[in-house]
Amino acid sequence: MNSRRTFLKSSAVAITCANGTGTAEEPARKVGPDKLTIALIGCGGMGTHHLNLLAKHKQLNIAYVCDVDANRLSAAAKIATDAGHAVKAERDLRAVLADKAVSAVWIATPDHWHAPGAILAADAGKHVYVEKPCSHNVREGRLLVDAAQRNKVHIQVGTQSRSTSTCAEAVKRLHDGAIGEVLVAKAWNSQLRRTLGKVKPTDPPKHLDYEAWQGPVPEAPFYANRVHGSWRFFRDYGAGDIGNDGVHDIDVGVWGMKFGALPNRVAALGGKFFFDDDQEWPDTQYVVCEYDAGNGGPKPRQFIFEQRIWSPYVQEDYENGCAFYGTKGVLIIGHGVGWKLFGERNKPLEEMKGRADLSAHHQNFIDACLKGEKLAAPASVGHVSAGICHLANISTRLRKTIEFDPVKEIVTNSPDANALIRRQYRPNHWAVPKGV
Ligand SMILES: NC(=O)c1ccc[n+]([C@@H]2O[C@H](COP(=O)([O-])OP(=O)(O)OC[C@H]3O[C@@H](n4cnc5c(N)ncnc54)[C@H](O)[C@@H]3O)[C@@H](O)[C@H]2O)c1
Repeated sequence: MNSRRTFLKSSAVAITCANGTGTAEEPARKVGPDKLTIALIGCGGMGTHHLNLLAKHKQLNIAYVCDVDANRLSAAAKIATDAGHAVKAERDLRAVLADKAVSAVWIATPDHWHAPGAILAADAGKHVYVEKPCSHNVREGRLLVDAAQRNKVHIQVGTQSRSTSTCAEAVKRLHDGAIGEVLVAKAWNSQLRRTLGKVKPTDPPKHLDYEAWQGPVPEAPFYANRVHGSWRFFRDYGAGDIGNDGVHDIDVGVWGMKFGALPNRVAALGGKFFFDDDQEWPDTQYVVCEYDAGNGGPKPRQFIFEQRIWSPYVQEDYENGCAFYGTKGVLIIGHGVGWKLFGERNKPLEEMKGRADLSAHHQNFIDACLKGEKLAAPASVGHVSAGICHLANISTRLRKTIEFDPVKEIVTNSPDANALIRRQYRPNHWAVPKGV
């Protein structure tokens, strides 16, 4: 295993930028139409995507990039420096959070670090943009919501459809009654993934601090087909593809249906029907969530999710999406593509095209931090969308219909299922959230 010393040596990239923009003297929790001093934690695929946009943003001052992989850290530092930021490259997120000059952090780590990192950040007084799914399990999601409220900070979840104008137009039609009463919606994830193969444990690469990568989760050997990126298909680190791509369209369903809480019951089936490899979550999954009358609406409603990640074709015209079934028509929203609205006898009524707008989601978060504007995807919303994925996974794994109390957030008919509302952590790790 590589030591912290080896890592620090290879990542010694404290960088000062040419324009001399300072960060240390700027006050934390700054409010006003000025600049926000931020840090990026997790500089992998999505972190770099964020960084490329954030580095160009006139209202942002990037004080830190943070990663436990020295190669990724130095690549991120270069992007920020080249864009004129006086950025520090830091391995340990605690050092970033200790800096009072930092007002907000973007967290684009693997899922097992989302809630632990975001809760630490909120407790340090930072506003947080955390990638989806905002939690690794139901309990973490609730603790994240509590942390936002306790610290009076903004926590935006990275489901950018919420800030995408085409998507908002579709949801407006729905809420204005364009397809009548909507009692059922269905989200889907239909795409072709690659096999992860079967590998034996090895030493981690020297540029990766694997100990820090694992953080608060139970210690496990290093497998090259989990780190980086494909951790999402393993139980300790991710929530499977339902919590990965699926959660975007589940979130659109939650938005359209105005679900303000988790469902009353979940029945799901599925498993690994296609891939013969190391991945642990289902490649095939069918989920039905039921909301009782009174849980956000006057009538009972169903929310369905289906997933086949071995499909080299799209479904209902869209690779991923969410369909809303009304008494007068159907509205089909394709993920990051646009939407179509049909009336009775499938009469085409309206159509709109448009891509998911990550920049608009960033701007919404920045405006919340600087001007107190309302967040598009606060933790309370992200918790419901992620929680549906977690409950679906519990039901699929145990092959059991779960009866769930959405107020107490406990499973009422199965101690085995209720135990999976929480996860196991590495004992006494500094990042284990309080109250888990
Ligand atoms: N919103 C979207 O459309 C979208 C798209 C892709 C990914 N994502 C999300 O972005 C997140 C990252 O996904 P990815 O594909 O970039 O994964 P990745 O594995 O490529 O990157 C994660 C990075 O986090 C780093 N990391 C791990 N532990 C850390 C720690 N304690 N401190 C600092 N850095 C740490 C890793 O070293 C790695 O560089 C995931 O939550 C994923 O769901 C969102």
